[in-house]
Amino acid sequence: MEYKVGVISGDGIGPEIVGEAKKVLDAVGKKYGHSFIYDDILMGGCSIDKTGEPLTDGAIEQAKKSDAVLMGSIGGNTATSPWYKLPPEKRPEAGLLKLRKSLNLFANLRPAYLYEELKAACPLREDIIGDGFDMAIMRELTGGLYFGERETKEVNGVRQATDTLTYNEEEIRRITIKAFDIAMKRRKKVTSVDKANVLDSSRLWRNVVEEVAKDYPEVSYEHMLVDNAAMQLVKDPKQFDVILTENMFGDILSDEASMVTGSIGMLSSASFNDTKFGLYEPSGGSAPDIAGKGIANPIATILSAAMMLRYSFDLDKEADAIEGAVRSALKEGFRTIDIMPQKGESLDGIKQVGTKEMGDIIAERI
Ligand code: IPM
Ligand code: MN
Repeated sequence: MEYKVGVISGDGIGPEIVGEAKKVLDAVGKKYGHSFIYDDILMGGCSIDKTGEPLTDGAIEQAKKSDAVLMGSIGGNTATSPWYKLPPEKRPEAGLLKLRKSLNLFANLRPAYLYEELKAACPLREDIIGDGFDMAIMRELTGGLYFGERETKEVNGVRQATDTLTYNEEEIRRITIKAFDIAMKRRKKVTSVDKANVLDSSRLWRNVVEEVAKDYPEVSYEHMLVDNAAMQLVKDPKQFDVILTENMFGDILSDEASMVTGSIGMLSSASFNDTKFGLYEPSGGSAPDIAGKGIANPIATILSAAMMLRYSFDLDKEADAIEGAVRSALKEGFRTIDIMPQKGESLDGIKQVGTKEMGDIIAERI
């Protein structure tokens, strides 16, 4: 089969890590007889530099014509890059938000799984890690604070800024259904995270989750306040199967969840609408501090490509092959710098490699 993959390499480490994911996809294509046709799409700082806009209408059209989009990362150093002197709607991140909104990508799935081999990179205590953990964060992606009305003005000579957090019941229902559907394929537990002791939007969230839960009698669910959830993630991550939450809480908790798996460089992510289309990207950012050094971990992007095969193209055994190749590379001791054993842990059989070598090693194991 032939698949049309839109490719947003983006900024910072983006082009490096996407290059490795394409290498692995090509290895899959060769072995299983598929061809992946790549269409480069400009987004983020590189698009600002070329077109003056972080995402042009033409780029959105290219994305819409693709079967799925694979993305690296966008943005730069917010303190030093000239992109951040521009008004907010012209900055790199605005391109990503516009893409999510234009394609109605309301559901963002971020699996966080601790590889046996990476226990030494996990910052948690041995007794907390136990046999490891495996959770999936379902983050609402096109509502809440990210897309609410906002304003900055001066009131009686004092600067004031406002952001608003709005959800309607339909937005909550559709993401809740996605979370319960995915829970049915996993350990059948949903933890819905909110701040219902303070926020109206969270109280509505709770009500709608309870309504949807009635249709899934096999799934057990609970509500958890977000501050407690942040604590539970490091205290007892094993308790989580599917975490369902709104946009900003999900942004924060997914970074935290990735860190307990050893590194944000391991965490893949997929964003869905109601079709087979998806946007696949690592959860991490553009890491401008290490861009161009050849040391970034490409695994999250490679695993995002595996998610693309599984969810957009229904190529399960090909996705399994990528995930298996990643596991083999780790088992054989290959590590990028971010997943090296922590101080005091053994370095026996461990080999530190760069971005390209890691890509080669994984591609060879397909
Ligand atoms: C993410 C990123 C984005 C977000 C930024 C780049 C706008 O942090 O995908 O988690 O906050 O959603
Ligand atoms: Mn984030």
